[in-house]
Amino acid sequence: MTRLIDGKAISAQIKEELKEQVEAMKADGQSVCLAVIQVGDDPASSIYVRNKKKACAYIGIQSLSYELKETTTQEELLELVEKLNQDENVHGILVQLPLPSHIDEDAIVKAIIPEKDVDGFHPESIGKMVIGEDGFESCTPAGVIQLLKRSGIEITGKECVVVGRSNNVGKPMGLLLLRENGTVTIAHSKTKNLKEVTKRADILIVAMGKPKYITSEYIKDGAVVIDVGMHRDSENKLCGDVDFEDVKDKVSAITPVPGGVGPMTIAMLMCNCVKAASK
Ligand code: GUN
Repeated sequence: MTRLIDGKAISAQIKEELKEQVEAMKADGQSVCLAVIQVGDDPASSIYVRNKKKACAYIGIQSLSYELKETTTQEELLELVEKLNQDENVHGILVQLPLPSHIDEDAIVKAIIPEKDVDGFHPESIGKMVIGEDGFESCTPAGVIQLLKRSGIEITGKECVVVGRSNNVGKPMGLLLLRENGTVTIAHSKTKNLKEVTKRADILIVAMGKPKYITSEYIKDGAVVIDVGMHRDSENKLCGDVDFEDVKDKVSAITPVPGGVGPMTIAMLMCNCVKAASK
């Protein structure tokens, strides 16, 4: 029987735990505050930002909202980040990506002090993940680890294949699976014989950005499949990088899209905010 890994339920459980933790912190006089910056009004970004602020409100995290014009200069954005870096009442800073093309995203990510880098995108956060030091983990890969652990799926010793090598998902995903004692392969667009590689996977994590690309031919019988993709198909329905209908009877467990990895990214962001305020 194929098991559906319910990201909505698992993220709700994490948010409940965080809510209790924040209540206890408040009773001790410790608040939690996240600054959320959006530049321009990209509709997809607006939805993400709204959901992040909604999660903050639910858990009891204060969110400060900065909605900046599309024409905001890099210098203006850096000034705001610097002001928030120095504000003792702000524990986390989130700059929603992508930024308009006239702004260097890398420069903004690096400008956020590592102590407030709740996205886990700063080179220092990535470096800490590499050497296994305590720091902020990238939210989507950390969410995938939580999905696996809370579903009772053992990672130690398993063949884990990640498809995709982005800085924000694929690479940190590989690092976190390695930390959990998985045997890790990161495949990407230049990988030869992708099917042969993915068919080795006991745990297959797909973050390649191609709608419904992974069909049953790419999957070993009984594999666990985690789909990080999010697209609209030809009928305007949400779908992932995995062809869910085609693979669902071949796998032992799979995340749906929507309702799989998506809600976990926000839950892990909330985790990082609470951690930032606890330090
Ligand atoms: N844009 C899409 N996903 C993310 C995310 O996790 N963090 C930020 N800052 N921007 C995003």
